[in-house]
Amino acid sequence: MGALLPPLGLVVLLFFNVASCYKLSEMGNQLQDMPKAPWRMHTLFSVECRDYFDWQTVGLMHSLRKSGQPGSVTRLLSCTDRDMRVYRGRDLAPTSDVPSLSKHPVTGDWYPAINKPPGVVHWLNHSDDAKNVDWVVILDADMNVV
Ligand SMILES: *[C@@H]1O[C@H](CO)[C@@H](O)[C@H](O)[C@H]1NC(C)=O
Repeated sequence: MGALLPPLGLVVLLFFNVASCYKLSEMGNQLQDMPKAPWRMHTLFSVECRDYFDWQTVGLMHSLRKSGQPGSVTRLLSCTDRDMRVYRGRDLAPTSDVPSLSKHPVTGDWYPAINKPPGVVHWLNHSDDAKNVDWVVILDADMNVV
């Protein structure tokens, strides 16, 4: 038999949303002080190119740092080409661009919430981080970790 590898787990943790407002300049190079864990954990959250999600990103990133959440974090950013051209929040979190499926290719329906599942699959398919992880924590941007 091959080496015993820990299972890749997908965990969705729900946390009560605590409103947080912090200066953007405090974000800096976040999570560089993350503690080590005996397993490899990666945290994902999914957003679009909008101020609404930027402020949530600021709060979540701050709470991840303050709580000592182990492992790395990736923001899955799904934006239309038009929104991406004018987006100014790229530095708010470690980011992986994922395709925007907000507009259904056949029906034209507008449903941005659809972006999270294919965004996670895109990350699993394309990210080197996804090849070196035991647990993936999937959060919503409006969550805070305590
Ligand atoms: C992910 O990979 C699977 C298997 O290769 C493929 O069927 C699927 O279309 C891919 N999805 C995305 C979103 O990249």
